Amino acid sequence: MKINTMELPSGKSTALYSSKKAILPMLTLILLTTIPLYLYNNSPFITRSVEIRINSSVPLFQKNNLSLALHSPQNTTNDSTNVELDQKCVIFNGNWVPYPKEPYYTNETKCVIDDRQNCMKFGRPDTEFMKWRWKPDECELPLFNAVQFLELVRGKTLAFVGDSVGRNQMQSLTCLLASAAYPVDVSEVQDTKFRRWLYTDYDFTMKALWSPLLVRTRDADPNGYSLNSRMNLYLDEADEAWATQIENVDIVIISAGQWFFRPFIYYEKGKVVGCHVCHRRNITDLTRYYGYRMAFRAAFRTILNHQNFKGLTILRTFSPAHFENGYWNEGGNCVRTRPLTKEEMKLDGYNLEFYLTQVEELRAAEIEGRKKGLKFRILDTTEAMAMRPDGHPNHYGHGPNENKTLADCVHWCMPGPIDTWNEFLLQMLKIEED
Ligand SMILES: *[C@@H]1O[C@H](CO)[C@@H](O)[C@H](O)[C@H]1NC(C)=O
Ligand SMILES: *[C@@H]1O[C@H](CO)[C@@H](O)[C@H](O)[C@H]1NC(C)=O
Ligand SMILES: *[C@@H]1O[C@H](CO)[C@@H](O)[C@H](O)[C@H]1NC(C)=O
Ligand SMILES: *[C@@H]1O[C@H](CO)[C@@H](O)[C@H](O)[C@H]1NC(C)=O
Ligand SMILES: *[C@@H]1O[C@H](CO)[C@@H](O)[C@H](O)[C@H]1NC(C)=O
Ligand SMILES: *[C@@H]1O[C@H](CO)[C@@H](O)[C@H](O)[C@H]1NC(C)=O
Ligand SMILES: *[C@@H]1O[C@H](CO)[C@@H](O)[C@H](O)[C@H]1NC(C)=O
Repeated sequence: MKINTMELPSGKSTALYSSKKAILPMLTLILLTTIPLYLYNNSPFITRSVEIRINSSVPLFQKNNLSLALHSPQNTTNDSTNVELDQKCVIFNGNWVPYPKEPYYTNETKCVIDDRQNCMKFGRPDTEFMKWRWKPDECELPLFNAVQFLELVRGKTLAFVGDSVGRNQMQSLTCLLASAAYPVDVSEVQDTKFRRWLYTDYDFTMKALWSPLLVRTRDADPNGYSLNSRMNLYLDEADEAWATQIENVDIVIISAGQWFFRPFIYYEKGKVVGCHVCHRRNITDLTRYYGYRMAFRAAFRTILNHQNFKGLTILRTFSPAHFENGYWNEGGNCVRTRPLTKEEMKLDGYNLEFYLTQVEELRAAEIEGRKKGLKFRILDTTEAMAMRPDGHPNHYGHGPNENKTLADCVHWCMPGPIDTWNEFLLQMLKIEED
């Protein structure tokens, strides 16, 4: 079952064979070991009514100075990878438009699709959710071009640091790249949460560094670990699981979100500074936003002060969940089959607060980074994904022996709207290259 580096093939076709062998056992392992996302009972995305309310949109994304501006001389066609963008354009501001063509890949494609997100395989009856493309307001978003992507990352290492939604993006990337190359598994450890893939022809390495809370944690519940158990968060200490692994990494993509709804005791300098829903009279409840802010601050500070990190840091912004019709653990689901329009979507409440919090921390890091020659960029998916309540697995995705009673309205079906994140990523890397 273990694919070790001794078996590393050199050519593309053998790589395909090897990776194919590797994928099935690997998926099984992921399924056995992946901890589902944990939604604390009082989590606000647990809504009894419609989570994303029907009202006007929040145009705050326009004000985001870190948003990506594309400058390019000419455009030719709008629907090809050769599109050049005429005007300055923030690609993250836009709308979903119908796109009748086939998705980039299917459940039959030789790539890494976690069963939990494999909506096709588990018979999701509607397919319309795959038939939309993101249309930036002021330009076209070029289609993903696998060869172009691989050339841009030739010789580089890309690390996905954070939670399972980050891993969802990494797996989407393996599927988008499958038209050009297959990776081989060169993981150094058995733990599938630290999977490492090598695209041999491009000497491109992609790795997952599991750290859903970004900082050091300790289980601290007298009743042991469970979905709602309390944890200690050491808010000024980046989690070594990733912090010791970014040496010589060229691109780090950070993802963190839903785990911050749990009950926590917050520590700084080894002392209790507050908590989130700990129900202790002598400890101040500092809210979930405090923990979220400080975790990002610690993560960015660690990157800024890292001796051997000279790479690009990308914050992939908060990915909204879409439970409707009940709490996540009381029948809540996500049964919509169409995106919301910008007018229908309302980004507010905790979604907005999490988003703004992390963007503020990124801005601060970006300013510090400039002094040190380190780049911090935003992969701003929040608005686009807030419009996609139809893009989650709901009940169509689960492990082989699992009786899926809980709906997953957090992760994203593959193929599906998450593939757009990698279309954004490609454009960002192109700009960094220029
Ligand atoms: C949208 O919300 C605003 C206040 O935030 C309210 O004045 C307006 O009537 C709402 N519009 C609709 C269509 O509900
Ligand atoms: C955006 O940048 C401009 C100039 O670069 C600055 O004047 C403006 O205050 C910035 N806006 C925000 C919201 O940071
Ligand atoms: C580029 O495309 C836009 C519409 O997508 C069009 O308005 C503009 O005229 C085009 N520019 C050139 C130079 O073709
Ligand atoms: C460009 O997009 C418009 C609609 O957005 C479409 O009508 C037109 O046919 C497209 N052009 C090409 C060359 O694909
Ligand atoms: C792909 O999905 C179809 C149903 O849409 C299913 O019949 C088929 O077995 C799936 N193939 C794989 C390899 O999962
Ligand atoms: C809070 O009170 C408990 C006893 O009720 C004590 O064990 C704990 O150390 C106190 N915590 C702080 C931060 O003062
Ligand atoms: C799955 O669980 C639900 C509720 O717990 C139950 O009603 C259903 O029969 C179970 N399905 C299977 C296939 O075991």
